[in-house]
Amino acid sequence: MNCFQIIKSVLDEAYSQIPGDEAQKDSEIKDALEYLRNEYARLSNGSIIDYSFATTRFAYIYVYVTSHANLVCSMIQKNQDICNLFDNQKVNVACIGGGPGSDFLGILKYLMINQKSPTVKFQLCDKEKTWAESWSDVDNMIDPEFRISTSYLPLDVTEQDDWKPYTKYFQSDLFTMIYFMSEVLSLRHLANEYFDNLFSQAKPKSLFLFIDNNHHQFYSWFDDLAKTHNIKIIDKGEGSNSLPSDEEKLDLGIYFQKFSSPKIRANIAYRIGQKE
Ligand SMILES: C[S@@+](CC[C@H](N)C(=O)[O-])C[C@H]1O[C@@H](n2cnc3c(N)ncnc32)[C@H](O)[C@@H]1O
Repeated sequence: MNCFQIIKSVLDEAYSQIPGDEAQKDSEIKDALEYLRNEYARLSNGSIIDYSFATTRFAYIYVYVTSHANLVCSMIQKNQDICNLFDNQKVNVACIGGGPGSDFLGILKYLMINQKSPTVKFQLCDKEKTWAESWSDVDNMIDPEFRISTSYLPLDVTEQDDWKPYTKYFQSDLFTMIYFMSEVLSLRHLANEYFDNLFSQAKPKSLFLFIDNNHHQFYSWFDDLAKTHNIKIIDKGEGSNSLPSDEEKLDLGIYFQKFSSPKIRANIAYRIGQKE
């Protein structure tokens, strides 16, 4: 399996839901691709990205999800503690800021490559509820041998009233934070309480997977939280990473002809931590 093949089906569905004729849709998607590129470049200056438009979500899934999913898969492959976790019969994963499905898809790819089929329950914790549209029937696209389920927790980490009622996901075995802390860095003064609460309430032995842009301000925030809350960093690194050769861009079909190339290379910092 490669991610681009699954993404193509998700994109077909997402494309059909965008109103207008083909020319109109394509023009709006191109604008959304440009919008995301510009806003990500301004993240550390406080830009806040709005994913509520169907065209923006399409653009995000098209450009970023395969790259991020492959980063997740390759980080799991090289860490024995996370690999061992998926030898259990049941695994609970909380994907913080995981609405677009990249974290989930990366884990699914790992399971498929390694022929592991535990029952995995994913909770996608994200403030943008409409992401759920894209992934609600993904289990129909994959071999039923893989017993996975996804559910959404619609929470905004900067709004205490929003996140406080949810506590069950603290019992997760793995927490993923993929390109999430950079997204809320400019609201750190509002989001810090959420992270303090999450890191302190996570159960002993639970694992944390953090991947983000390779900037000190992003990973040092994670490192500070880990230090304060007894999360032992068991692996870490910074550097460049490229899509593996099994991901064939042509699997994106017509979209690859119409739109600019999806993300192929990433300059990342990663951390794998375990609650003591
Ligand atoms: C750059 S995307 C990363 C998504 C995914 N983890 C990935 O790697 O592709 C950031 C995600 O954070 C979500 N998000 C942004 N601000 C948020 C907030 N205050 N609370 C919860 N989720 C938020 C967005 O809706 C989006 O899904």
